[in-house]
Amino acid sequence: TFPPRVFSGIQPSGDLHLGNYLGALQRFVRMQDEAYEQTVFCMVDLHAITVWQDPKELAHSTRELAAGFIASGLSPEKSILINQSQVPEHAQLAWIFNCVARMGWMQRMTQFKDKAGKNAEKASLGLFAYPALMAADILIYHATHVPVGEDQKQHLELTRDIAAKFNHDYGVDFFPLTEPVIEGAATRVMSLRDGTKKMSKSDPSDASRINMTDDADAIAKKIRKAKTDPDALPSEAKGLEQRPEARNLVNIYAALSDQSVDQVLAEVGGQQFGAFKPMLADLAVAKLSPISTEMARLMAEPDEIDKILARGAAQAREITAPILQKTYDIIGM
Ligand code: ADP
Ligand code: NA
Repeated sequence: TFPPRVFSGIQPSGDLHLGNYLGALQRFVRMQDEAYEQTVFCMVDLHAITVWQDPKELAHSTRELAAGFIASGLSPEKSILINQSQVPEHAQLAWIFNCVARMGWMQRMTQFKDKAGKNAEKASLGLFAYPALMAADILIYHATHVPVGEDQKQHLELTRDIAAKFNHDYGVDFFPLTEPVIEGAATRVMSLRDGTKKMSKSDPSDASRINMTDDADAIAKKIRKAKTDPDALPSEAKGLEQRPEARNLVNIYAALSDQSVDQVLAEVGGQQFGAFKPMLADLAVAKLSPISTEMARLMAEPDEIDKILARGAAQAREITAPILQKTYDIIGM
């Protein structure tokens, strides 16, 4: 009964990295050409400020992320591109969801535990409530499909729980039970320095990740120095099971070249990393450098970016305002 709609977002809280590109952006670009009624992609600045952001840097990162979206192939003609704070219905619905979600549900969220660390008492209330805002981001569009990396799986389950509880509490079938879309070889790109940690903006080691703005030399150097093991590459995926660093590099290669891991290994099985790493570096540079060049060009015209986002916000509000109004009606407000 719900038309297929896609929503997803990325935080403007630092450099866009290869994990964001392969786990999220590259798949957003594909989905905008598939048979969805609407695709909405969002810079989630309200999420970013759950931890301190310098105001000037936040403004810069938001424009840069918008440039990254467009340079990667997201088109304002095919998708609605927005900055979250410019569509106030996200935050308005989030308050309602704060009243639907239970404290106990939030306390089980592993991302909060990871981000708050040992000193959870000092974390912002917003960091704790983050998943309710994320549910609002999705459900204010009645989105049915959300492309994300594996780290977001638990938050998507919570989104379904919130939708189901709202529908049950008010005796309606108003919010859809949204499906996460977690697929491909790179749903969890790992750090280049430690195969047990995911590649992340918040990792203090710059060598742990490939940033979308890195130049060819930086990309090649980071891949050359990436942690590996002394063995040759296996000829089947099974052979990577106990080798997280090796598996990570093969997964990245597969995702960048749009192949399965087995297809890649059929080609490179038996080779040493000394031979494979330069191939991976060449592929990464070929794929990423046109994007970073285009990002730099777009960043030279910030007014154009702001115009695209303003237009996106207006289009978005045609969807979100009626859904918020109907939500208020259901609640008796
Ligand atoms: P980060 O985790 O670096 O702060 P975000 O929270 O803004 O980035 O995540 C934006 C999107 O990128 C989400 O869909 C998330 O699942 C995806 N993502 C982030 N890191 C990775 C990764 N290492 N591998 C795959 N996808 C990732
Ligand atoms: Na994340």
